[in-house]
Amino acid sequence: MKHLLKLLDLSGEQITELLNLGDQLKYEQKHGIDHQRLKGQTLGMIFQKSSTRTRVSFEVGIHQLGGTGLFLSANDLQIGRGEPVQDTARVLSRYLDGVMIRTFAQQEVEDLAKFGSIPVINGLTDFCHPCQVLADLMTVREHKGGLAGLKLCYIGDGNNMANSLIVGGLKVGMNVSVATPKAYQPDGTVLSFASAYGDKFSLTDDIHAAAAGADVVFTDVWASMGMEGEAQQRRAAFTGYQVNDELLSVCARDVMVQHCLPAHRGEEITESVFEAHANEIFDEAENRLHAQKAVMVKLMEKPPLF
Ligand code: CP
Ligand code: NVA
Repeated sequence: MKHLLKLLDLSGEQITELLNLGDQLKYEQKHGIDHQRLKGQTLGMIFQKSSTRTRVSFEVGIHQLGGTGLFLSANDLQIGRGEPVQDTARVLSRYLDGVMIRTFAQQEVEDLAKFGSIPVINGLTDFCHPCQVLADLMTVREHKGGLAGLKLCYIGDGNNMANSLIVGGLKVGMNVSVATPKAYQPDGTVLSFASAYGDKFSLTDDIHAAAAGADVVFTDVWASMGMEGEAQQRRAAFTGYQVNDELLSVCARDVMVQHCLPAHRGEEITESVFEAHANEIFDEAENRLHAQKAVMVKLMEKPPLF
């Protein structure tokens, strides 16, 4: 594994290895056990979009591993003035040991990896959010004791979260059901990937059919970053695609609820469901830190010299 560009590039075994390492690093951090496995290394963090969790968890994570994080706002980089990503990649590779990027086009992340010579980590694109879904799977596994055979349900926009949850969930042996309005389905490449899983995957516009018997229900905002201009139209299109108490009544009795955050209460999730499941949702947010530390160690740790 040289990069984390999208979960489609990883095997189920590689995902599980990352989750295991995330659990181990979490244990070491909680018990004060030294795990400075990236001493002296520098991670650059390029942000073309806003962030609370991704920025803070990467910056704290690299610090806990003994390295340094460099926050690089795209507005202040020459990339924001049109310097090609091919050149930025080759320059940053001369200074940094790894780079995380949050941007719009998946191609930009792929190009950063193609033209640079250091590990690249996708911190969210319009296409996917692999770091988030590693944290999500880690959280579900922690709460449920395993993943294979559980039913993961996603309700809402067929966006970056839907794409990554479908791929990640199927690869670790979960059954995945998705409900989106017909005009907002997940990406075609993800749907063709999922079609190979037969009846372990289902896509519908009926939220009750998708949620029936679910062990964990995910949702996400109706208008992602970059789509603010469509917010009003989307509010109309997604009416009814809400995770509320009535929907949870058709799920498994001990259903978990996950939300990558930020959440819009009263839109994709009700206040009552959010607060009843807040413990699971904030465990999920915490696990961004541990899962991403695992990604950084896997990609950036150097073998001993002697
Ligand atoms: N869930 C997530 O990626 O949050 P931020 O946008 O705050 O980084
Ligand atoms: N789908 C959301 C996720 C935010 C973490 C977005 O892209 O804005």
